[in-house]
Amino acid sequence: MAARSCLAIVLAAGEGTRMRSARPKVLHEVAGRSLLAHVLTAIAGIEPSATAVVIGSGQDDVAAEAGRALPHAICFVQRERRGTAHAVLAARAAIERGADDILVIYGDTPLIRPATLQLLRAPLAKGAALAVMGFRPTDPSGYGRLVTKNGRLLRIVEHADAVPQERAIDLCNAGAMAFDGNGALAILERIGNRNRKSEFYLTDAVEIARGMNKTVVAVEVEEDDVRGINSKKELAEAEAVAQQRLRRAALDAGVTLVAPETVFLSADTTFGKDVVVEPYVVFGANVSVGDGAVIRAFSHLAGAAVGKGASVGPFARLRPGTRLGDGARIGNFVEIKEAKIEAGAKANHLSYIGDAVVGAGANIGAGTITCNYDGYAKHHTAIGENAFIGSNSALVAPVAIGAGAYVGSGSVITADVPADALALGRGRQVVKEGWASRLRALKSIGRKKAHAGD
Ligand code: UD1
Ligand code: CA
Repeated sequence: MAARSCLAIVLAAGEGTRMRSARPKVLHEVAGRSLLAHVLTAIAGIEPSATAVVIGSGQDDVAAEAGRALPHAICFVQRERRGTAHAVLAARAAIERGADDILVIYGDTPLIRPATLQLLRAPLAKGAALAVMGFRPTDPSGYGRLVTKNGRLLRIVEHADAVPQERAIDLCNAGAMAFDGNGALAILERIGNRNRKSEFYLTDAVEIARGMNKTVVAVEVEEDDVRGINSKKELAEAEAVAQQRLRRAALDAGVTLVAPETVFLSADTTFGKDVVVEPYVVFGANVSVGDGAVIRAFSHLAGAAVGKGASVGPFARLRPGTRLGDGARIGNFVEIKEAKIEAGAKANHLSYIGDAVVGAGANIGAGTITCNYDGYAKHHTAIGENAFIGSNSALVAPVAIGAGAYVGSGSVITADVPADALALGRGRQVVKEGWASRLRALKSIGRKKAHAGD
C-alpha cells in the first residue's frame, strides 16, 4: 500500500498571557530550543508532504523561527485569536490542496515525538475519520476532558465548560488530532463558538464528526509526550522531562556523565566517543564535543565546538564562536568568545580571549586578556603558533603576535610583535637598596613621639 500523504498544521498564534511574558508563547525555550522548533523537529521526523504553521498577525519572529526550524513550512496568519478551530481554518488554502491525513498539533506541546505522531495517524489508515490524542495527566486541570461511553469517544468538553462530573474525568485531550483529508473541511466548517469563551474550539470536531456518523477514536499516550505549556510552571516541568531524555540519550550513546542530574543539555548538543562530563556543566545551544574530550566541573558552554581530546574547565566559559582544536586546554576561570584556539594551545588560568586566533601549541599565561573592544568596535588578535604570552599581559587589539614570539609578563602590547621576537611592554623595575629599613627607622621614631604624648 502506498504511504498516505500528510499535511501537518501547527497552531502557534497568540501571546500566551499566562506566561506573563512579552515573548510569544511558542518562542519560549525548552532545552535551548523554542517550543515551536521542538514541534517542527518532531514533524520533520514523520516526513509530511506539507507543513503549515498558523501564527498571529505581526508575529514575524514566530514566522522566522518556523522558517529556521523547518524551511519547507508555510506560515498562515490568523488575524484574530478566536480559538483552535478558527486557527486551523486560517490554513484553509493548505487543507484545500488536499492530503490523505491532516494532522493538527498545538505549538505548545514540545515533548511530542515522531513515533507518537505516527501512532495518532494509524487509525486513519484503517478508516477512522478522526483520531484524538488522549492522556491521563497527574493534574488534569486546564485540559479538555474526553467524554467516553462504553469505551467510545463521544465528545470533548473544555475544563472551563465542564460540569463537576466531567471535571472528574482523568482522560484528557493532548492537543493533537488527525483528520482523514476527505471530509476534514466539512467537519471544521461546522464548528461554532457557543461556549464560555465564545471561541471556535477544535475539540468540538469530535461531537460533530460523530453526528455525521463518522468513526472517531482516541489514542492514549504518555503524559510526558504531550504536556501542554500554558505557564512558566509547566515550562519548567517540560524542561525537566526534556533534560531527563537528553541525559538518557547521552548515556546511551556512551558519554560518561559522572552526575547526570547536574548536567544540563540542549536539544542539539552532540558528543563524540569517550567524552567525560564532570558534575555541574551547562551546555547551551549549538555545542559539539569531540571524541575523548573532558568537560570538567562547573563549566558553561554555548555555541562552541570542542576538538578531540581537548580539556575544558573546571570553571571555564566557552561563548558562541569558540572553536577548540584537538588537544587544546582551557582551564579554570577562562572565558573564550568568537575565537579559534588551535590544536594543543593552552590557556590554563584566568584569561579572556575574544575575537582571536591562537595558533597551535601557543601558551597563554595566567591572567592574559585580549582587549578586543574600544567602546565602539571589536578588534581582532592573532597569536602565532607556539607563541608564549607571559602572565598578566594585555593584548590591545588589533594586534598580531608572530609565531614563536615571547611576550614578557605584565606587558601591555599595543603594536605587532614579529615572529620569534621578545616584546616587553611594562615599566622597568627599580631597586632601592636599604630603603625599607630606613622607612622602618623613620616610623619607629614617629611612634615613640606619639606614645610620649599620651
Ligand atoms: C487546548 C485544548 C484542550 C487540550 C489542551 C492540550 C482547545 C479548545 N482546547 O487547551 O482541550 O486539553 O489544549 O494542551 O483546543 N492557538 C492558536 N489560535 C487560537 C487559539 C490557540 O493558534 O485562536 C494555538 C496556541 O498558540 C496554542 C494552541 O493553539 O499553541 C493551543 O491553544 P491554548 O490556548 O494553549 O489551548 P489550551 O487552553 O491549552
Ligand atoms: Ca495549551
